[in-house]
Amino acid sequence: MTQPTERTLYPSLRGKRVFITGGATGIGACMVEAFLYQGAIVGFVDIAEEDGSALCTRLAAAYGNAVCFRACDVTDVAALRVTIGEMCEQLGTFNVLINNVANDKRCDPRSLEDASWHSSMAVNLDAAFFTTRAIAPGMAESGGGSIINFSSINALYGPAEMPSYVTAKAGLLGLTRALASDFARDNIRVNALVPGWVATDKQLEKWLTPEAEAKWMENVRLQRRLKPVDVANMALFLASEDASMITGQQFVVDGGRL
Ligand SMILES: NC(=O)c1ccc[n+]([C@@H]2O[C@H](COP(=O)([O-])OP(=O)(O)OC[C@H]3O[C@@H](n4cnc5c(N)ncnc54)[C@H](O)[C@@H]3O)[C@@H](O)[C@H]2O)c1
Repeated sequence: MTQPTERTLYPSLRGKRVFITGGATGIGACMVEAFLYQGAIVGFVDIAEEDGSALCTRLAAAYGNAVCFRACDVTDVAALRVTIGEMCEQLGTFNVLINNVANDKRCDPRSLEDASWHSSMAVNLDAAFFTTRAIAPGMAESGGGSIINFSSINALYGPAEMPSYVTAKAGLLGLTRALASDFARDNIRVNALVPGWVATDKQLEKWLTPEAEAKWMENVRLQRRLKPVDVANMALFLASEDASMITGQQFVVDGGRL
């Protein structure tokens, strides 16, 4: 991410420990850098080992050992727990958790294999719950924190050929409200971030063709591409103390979809 020359700085994020799932590419990678820029310490996991290591090496040159990457498949819950435990030992318990990992594979519900439905739930929904369960006790002990669950505009509109993704992303909105109630007494806030169509490299390669983009723009008020940084900016705010009385909510960042 290229940092804008003037970027909002949140003093409350300085020194905070942030854990991000799926941080090697796309919006996740943008958030890793955005939090480091705030002076936070960032641990991230991803299945994409090469991308994660390359990002970590690049950012370590600028931010030193404030960044830490581990290759991990978040659907392997036992491995995820071990990885989180090791990262906590290395960095300290986390104050901010961003459940960002996802896989937006397209499919026809008529022919979707049972196993594919379950694997979509595992990455798009279950991982957020199990990651939260592994991180929240340490967060509570250190006085509270902020959890941000990444849903999607697709959860609100329900487009075709994404039945499991849409279902999981809608589930995350419910999970957000439920955990906001459960964790309030630990001073842990839980909110959902709901991005519109964000022009990541993957989206541009796979789905965001000029035709698809023209169609998207017909239904959106602000006529410019949504970038990862537009979404990262909302994550920074929700993680910061400036959002200290905000919990159980969902925030759409989509350029004003009609
Ligand atoms: N890009 C968009 O247009 C858009 C729109 C709405 C919502 N979102 C949501 O925002 C978040 C980030 O979006 P993105 O486009 O950068 O996502 P993405 O799909 O490009 O990347 C997510 C990251 O998760 C990693 N990952 C996938 N499966 C994994 C697994 N099993 N274990 C560990 N890591 C795994 C990938 O390697 C990747 O680095 C996601 O939750 C997505 O659903 C994105």
